Amino acid sequence: MRLSVIGCGYVGLVTGACLAEAGHEVVCTDIDRDRIAKLQAGGVPIYEEHLEQILTSARKTGHISYTADAAEAIRAGEAIFICVGTPPKESGEADLSAIDYVARQIAAEARTPKLVIEKSTVPARTGLELSRALSAYSRNSNVKFRVASNPEFLREGTAVADFFHPDRIVVGVEDPSSAEELRQIYRPILEKKFHCPVHNGTCPPGQKAEFLVTTISSAELIKHASNSFLALKISYANVVADLCEKIGANVEEVTHAMGLDPRIGGQFLKAGLGYGGFCFPKDVQAFIYLAAKVGVDFDILKAAERVNKQRIEHFFEKVHKALWVVKGKRIAVLGLAFKANTDDIRFAPALEVVKNLIGEGAIVHVTDPEAMPRTKAVFPQLHYHEDPYDALRDADAALICTEWNPFRKLDWQRAGSSMARKLVIDGRNLYAPQDMKKLGFEYYSFGRE
Ligand code: UDX
Repeated sequence: MRLSVIGCGYVGLVTGACLAEAGHEVVCTDIDRDRIAKLQAGGVPIYEEHLEQILTSARKTGHISYTADAAEAIRAGEAIFICVGTPPKESGEADLSAIDYVARQIAAEARTPKLVIEKSTVPARTGLELSRALSAYSRNSNVKFRVASNPEFLREGTAVADFFHPDRIVVGVEDPSSAEELRQIYRPILEKKFHCPVHNGTCPPGQKAEFLVTTISSAELIKHASNSFLALKISYANVVADLCEKIGANVEEVTHAMGLDPRIGGQFLKAGLGYGGFCFPKDVQAFIYLAAKVGVDFDILKAAERVNKQRIEHFFEKVHKALWVVKGKRIAVLGLAFKANTDDIRFAPALEVVKNLIGEGAIVHVTDPEAMPRTKAVFPQLHYHEDPYDALRDADAALICTEWNPFRKLDWQRAGSSMARKLVIDGRNLYAPQDMKKLGFEYYSFGRE
């Protein structure tokens, strides 16, 4: 099918690339002309594993193209994926102005009927507003618009793998024909008929993704409810960690045992600095806001948000307890990205840590495998090191802020010998306390002795 993708961020670009790889003809556009120019020149504006490979092959087969002219992109596709940002306003409400802007463009530029698919994460009932905007601004009475919701469940760092191996594909539609059209779009994925970059060929027969058809509002709600529940799990684990610290229990052992119950599941029970990123914080806020707007008090989500915000404070209680005075101390911060395997620093807990350290007059040395270029633009005054051992040299303390695998493999015997003080404050519980103590380190972490 001929598809248009509006918005070339990590959702739009991954969606466009994977659907092109699955055999569709995809035209992508973005309001950022530089981003389009970079893509046209074969560049890849975001770091996602396998993305460059599939963009390159899709360019070769001509299955993907880019244009800065939104009208051209809108006219190209029978179905249009809206993949623009929906950031939080001060109030926590999702800012839907980009969605509204795109809706008006589609209404004005479409010359043939379109299936308009909201892939961006939006609060329930946005589809109804989208529908109204499309007809209100349509200049062509015989151009009919159908609206659908097709929320993404992509995790940064594994977005391509997640797209090609979904647990479920959720579509919210107004009519059966839209559901059929979306089934057609996803058929290659559902039938595993595409060259998978993760398996370098056809995927092994595995769990079949469920293709779920529901209403638009239910599909929108599924996204917020899923993400918020994952955030809730993380905050639950963090309160259990606080309890473990007071009682003298071990949160890793407690949550591991909990997770062995399939009704609970072991993932997203990792205690530490909590969740960041461009999804969880804003989705939780938007869900709380939506509930309040319709008269439902989502108290447990408010609590989850409050617990998450407290993580930085709890982390600095450990920093102050260990260091006494922060001012003038040389601190090595390991990890800047909001999570491992991404260069994304949006709403990253690590940046809150860095901000606090600067505010307290520390001399901050940082290292991160991917996120330093983006951080430099925000914090030029930090000392950046490609090699973690350089960041650790002469440090009074090492603060672990992102769960990067390379940090798990650091030789702390070697690092310790060059540090001014063998002190690690671990915000992601990467190390075993007894191992660090055996190496002569003072070691602090969440929810463990
Ligand atoms: C999330 C959802 O997982 C994904 O399904 C949705 O489509 C988009 O939002 P993402 O934000 O990319 O994906 O990252 P995720 O892997 O979910 O981690 C979010 C944050 O939670 C990170 O800051 C991570 O460090 C933190 N986290 C994760 C924990 O603190 N503890 C955990 O156990 C798991």
